[in-house]
Amino acid sequence: MSASNPPVPVTIPNIALGVSGGIAAYKAIEVLRGLQRAGCNVRVAMTKRACEFVQPLTFRALSGSHVVVDDYAPDNPDPIAHITFSQTADLLIVAPATANIIAKFANGVADDFLTSTYLACFAPVLIAPAMNTTMWEHPATQRNLQQLRADGVHIIQPDAGEMACGTIGPGRLSEPERIVAAALDLLRTAQKRDLTGERFLITVGATREEIDPVRFISNRSSGRMGFALAEAALKRGGDVTIVAGITTLDPPAGVKVVRALSATEMDQAVARESRNASVFIGAAAIADYRPAQRAEQKIKKTEESVTLTLERTPDVLANVAASRQNGLLVVGFAAETENVVANAQEKLRSKKLDAIVANDVTRSDSGFDTTTNAITIITAKNTDPLELPALSKNEAANRILDVVVSLRK
Ligand code: CTP
Repeated sequence: MSASNPPVPVTIPNIALGVSGGIAAYKAIEVLRGLQRAGCNVRVAMTKRACEFVQPLTFRALSGSHVVVDDYAPDNPDPIAHITFSQTADLLIVAPATANIIAKFANGVADDFLTSTYLACFAPVLIAPAMNTTMWEHPATQRNLQQLRADGVHIIQPDAGEMACGTIGPGRLSEPERIVAAALDLLRTAQKRDLTGERFLITVGATREEIDPVRFISNRSSGRMGFALAEAALKRGGDVTIVAGITTLDPPAGVKVVRALSATEMDQAVARESRNASVFIGAAAIADYRPAQRAEQKIKKTEESVTLTLERTPDVLANVAASRQNGLLVVGFAAETENVVANAQEKLRSKKLDAIVANDVTRSDSGFDTTTNAITIITAKNTDPLELPALSKNEAANRILDVVVSLRK
């Protein structure tokens, strides 16, 4: 480690180091040692091919932990290793990252331990590619790298020079020292505790409005964006309470969860919880209408057609903004299918918000039940829209929180 790397702050960071099968796999040993010297706890996952180059025993001896290659292997001590391994990591590094692992990550293929770990990982991901120059320059590889960048993955460019195969050109694994420095930089950013002291209240997921005891009206929200916000706020030092409707994912560990299934329940829960909050973010997809009457018994199939009369639900976001106290910051979302920015600006004004996050839900890379979001952020202070490309929801969440930090200044 060079003296120019300042120590990593706060708690001991947990690094998940993935090693894929290339001749540069031996250099991952130096990456492991460098991270340990900087005070990190490192656990290692290897692909089967990586084991042809370096024995798992080497990494086990150096890391002091079981090295996972195949989570189905009988000696694997953890039955859901790809979840615990990835979700307790503060950073996932893959060094070397082969053309094959890059292609799998870019396409969401999860056919072994390392690729499943990548998909299950909330933490920032850093990859250090290494491969033959022709493979590196191939349009398929470059396309996959572009996809990974859009997904928020950090990439350390390979060095140019003479390769093991004799070719001269780019493709050689970056120096371990540079990989370690980049990892520490990312950790420092990830561990920036700029939201310490803020108490977040975030609505998440879809509401459910009952028609009768077995039927309801709902929508496609998964809760992913709200959970990403909760996770990011927590990592940046905030205290987080979630008011959650129906979600298809589990909430992140460390947040207080209040369940509220209908718009009315959500309105009541938010009114109660917002007294203690300093930032409210309305990320839930709340039904605008509910059945005017909920049938006590299951509606029987006796009529040829039935008419359902719907009535308006409370607007949770507008209510919290109208009754805000003690400098509560109020941030809303705007799910739009047309005139995205103009409609969002109108919602910002009419609901009296501090900021609004607009997204075009007709895009395939944005909106409900996607892993990425292309958002535009507009604040009351500066109505010039901040238009962002499609980002992972984790990255998008951090950009929204950057705006919260700037509104506090
Ligand atoms: N919202 C809310 N309560 C509702 C409906 C929406 O708090 N009953 C919040 C959402 O959580 C989001 C914002 O209002 O933060 C905007 O939601 P959106 O569905 O985009 O807009 P609406 O206000 O419902 O207006 P419209 O459906 O006419 O676009």
